[in-house]
Amino acid sequence: MKDLLGLRELPTSQIVEILDEAKKMRKVIDSDGRLNDCVHKTVVNVFYENSTRTALSFEVAGKTLGAIVSNMSVKNSSVNKGENLFDTVKTLEAIGYDTIVVRHGMAGVPHFIAKNVSCSVINAGDGRNEHPTQALLDMRTMLDYYKSLKGLKVAIVGDIAHSRVAMSNIYGLSKLGAKIYISAPNTLLPKGIEILPVEIVKPKEAVKGANIVMTLRLQLERMQSALISSMGQYSKSYGLNDELIALADSKAIIMHPGPVNRGIEMTSSVLDGLKSVVNEQVTNGVAVRMAILKMCKKGVG
Ligand code: CP
Repeated sequence: MKDLLGLRELPTSQIVEILDEAKKMRKVIDSDGRLNDCVHKTVVNVFYENSTRTALSFEVAGKTLGAIVSNMSVKNSSVNKGENLFDTVKTLEAIGYDTIVVRHGMAGVPHFIAKNVSCSVINAGDGRNEHPTQALLDMRTMLDYYKSLKGLKVAIVGDIAHSRVAMSNIYGLSKLGAKIYISAPNTLLPKGIEILPVEIVKPKEAVKGANIVMTLRLQLERMQSALISSMGQYSKSYGLNDELIALADSKAIIMHPGPVNRGIEMTSSVLDGLKSVVNEQVTNGVAVRMAILKMCKKGVG
């Protein structure tokens, strides 16, 4: 494939292929190995929004595969002199980058770039639309605990309205046969959620018997107006605590894409507890991004 823009349009067979490749890449990481699959590849990270996990794991993934990786500081770039997006990405193409990894606050930016350059384009999060590499690393982590996702109950609790992670997980998990239960205040449910393959329920119903409980960051920076009555009330109703997760399956795993607002989306005892796989998610992020950098090829398709 040339680009990875979203899981909505990605065929199930390609999702499975990425997850299988990522499993091999995880073995490389665990043995402190290095590969040379991308020795001739140049990758540029272009993040118009802040990131710790995604940006750094793409850098480590590229370097582990032997690629030359640049991190464009948008703040210090000619974007700050008024250069528009089209001219910026045509410049990156002319410099000779094979792959552009992009995060942007506006939905559809990676798709726009992919239409206008011959480089591979990887979506590292676009507005409220999708964050496909996050959902792939989430699914890779789930598959470390369960042989298959078919028929598993996945509870997604929290700020769904602003979450590109939730959207990509809904597309990806439904393609792999999981049953998805969503729980959020009405003000934090996106328009059109009812046409997606999810059940919308109260938090206790979502978590009861769940194999996987995922909560999401409350994205205060994307909220135009007060959408929750108070942090305390939100945390009491939708935050994961020991009492709520006790309702889940006894072997359930607890996930969060990070960064976590400790004490709001989940208590410290849940985040640091035995069922939490939050740090595993981060490590699998490197493996998944290695697989994607290897598989996305400039000029294909
Ligand atoms: N989960 C995620 O996208 O984290 P960062 O914003 O730190 O990349």
